[in-house]
Amino acid sequence: MPALINPSILSADFANLERDLHAISTADYAHVDVMDNHFVPNLTLGLPVFERLVQVSPVPVDGHLMIADPDRWAPAYAEAGAASVTFHAEAAQAPVRLARELRRLGARAGLALRPATPVEPFLDLLGEVDMILVMTVEPGFGGQSFIDGTLPKIRRVRRAVSEAGLDVHVQVDGGVSRETIERAAEAGANVFVAGSAVYGAESVPAEIAVLRDMASAHVH
Ligand code: DX5
Ligand code: ZN
Repeated sequence: MPALINPSILSADFANLERDLHAISTADYAHVDVMDNHFVPNLTLGLPVFERLVQVSPVPVDGHLMIADPDRWAPAYAEAGAASVTFHAEAAQAPVRLARELRRLGARAGLALRPATPVEPFLDLLGEVDMILVMTVEPGFGGQSFIDGTLPKIRRVRRAVSEAGLDVHVQVDGGVSRETIERAAEAGANVFVAGSAVYGAESVPAEIAVLRDMASAHVH
């Protein structure tokens, strides 16, 4: 499986989002973090801005919804044209119903887990989703340091996906950089979100290429 690099525009210039989306045109997806100040203590952007980002993005949009009540709000992000819509397991009332609805609307469905949320209750439902997002920091802010304690969970998710013979992506998000991407890949991740590491780099395209090469050497 090739390593996918999804830069997070949380670390972009919010007054120049179109310009900063074009800066990542060599990436696999643009990761867009939606935060509502309820599920996480931070507020970013909502549906009207998200819709425009999908329209101007040179790469497909990977929406990460850190919001309360995704059962109610997430389908609109699929209707807006997101290639992938990820909602949090801790916030969803009916994750299978929601995942099915997202797929019906044409998006890939992702299920996100905070660092302290175990994956085991969801393992029998793997066939209902296209991606599991293992948060490698507490969601809410960019620039935090990678939590190594999440590596065993990444391993367990990858093992369960392999054993089930499914094509479910394993995404990591938070503190992903040249220092951490290899161990995340070695543990079983194949989709890598990086905000500060990409937008803080001297050359954004060069950083995307370096991260992709480093991860690809370890993705299995
Ligand atoms: C954090 C967001 C991340 C964030 C990652 O809650 O979900 O996508 O942008 O930022 P870095 O890569 O700087 O840790
Ligand atoms: Zn994110």
